[in-house]
Amino acid sequence: MTEKPYPFRSSEGERRRLVAQGGLVAPLTRRLFEKAGLEPGMRVLDIGSGAGDVALLAAEFVGPEGTVIGVDSDPAQVAFAERRAAADRSTNVRFMAGDFREIELSPPADAVVGRLVLMYAADPLDALRRALRNLRAGGVVALQESVIDYEGPVLIEPLDCLAAKVVEWFRAGFKHAGVQPRMGMRLFGLMRAAGLDPSVDIDMSVPIQQGPEGALFEILTSVVRSQMPAILASGAATAAEIDIETLEQRLSADAPAGGVVGYFNSGHVGVWARKP
Ligand SMILES: C[S@@+](CC[C@H](N)C(=O)[O-])C[C@H]1O[C@@H](n2cnc3c(N)ncnc32)[C@H](O)[C@@H]1O
Repeated sequence: MTEKPYPFRSSEGERRRLVAQGGLVAPLTRRLFEKAGLEPGMRVLDIGSGAGDVALLAAEFVGPEGTVIGVDSDPAQVAFAERRAAADRSTNVRFMAGDFREIELSPPADAVVGRLVLMYAADPLDALRRALRNLRAGGVVALQESVIDYEGPVLIEPLDCLAAKVVEWFRAGFKHAGVQPRMGMRLFGLMRAAGLDPSVDIDMSVPIQQGPEGALFEILTSVVRSQMPAILASGAATAAEIDIETLEQRLSADAPAGGVVGYFNSGHVGVWARKP
């Protein structure tokens, strides 16, 4: 486990949120895997596999001759991901509970992949180095992390609406929990520091949403619901101010005629490298 508490509560709602979020950021993950050269027959390790989205995507690349092993420290996530793989009839994916920094694969993997995981590590470089112990020489590592800039502009238009305030609550909770800021932008340097030579072909995608007609308010509400304890502990808002059961409805009622456009963080960055 990370030393800091992971700021999202484990719940069925949180797993649904991860699946919905996974759908939004999947195109970047797919592009990253294509560029990194994930291919049939590979044995892949997915660190921090969560609801299983990244592992299931990797399984499409490696095909029936390949294998994907997802590891997550939350046994409830692991059980959920296993049920999804079974429902998908994906026989080339399995999930295990554990800390990815501690596990030892034998033989080592041909590829290590991970999405939105190093940002939660107290020491991302140490976490990456440990993950790389399970990668064979010549194997690929492909990582995707988000860019949450605690001081940067809130990516919501218009800025004087409840949705922008909700994004401030979210950022305060993350900052309070010690989530690494700007991890996506730091990935390249982190890989270099770990002795890799990452590709300079770096992709970023920003999954912008709209409300009330689109999914923005549902996304903001679910991200606040899962992260309530950290937001309250940060002092950014009280439970009464958040009033989670009415939040989505209030976001809609507050929206100007032109609607609200934006997202709760500023984007996702994918970087890949080959282990020397
Ligand atoms: C934001 S979720 C991302 C899940 C998935 N990678 C995706 O993109 O859909 C982060 C996941 O990493 C897991 N995690 C965090 N630190 C971990 C560690 N040291 N070892 C294993 N899992 C970890 C959490 O339990 C959580 O399920």
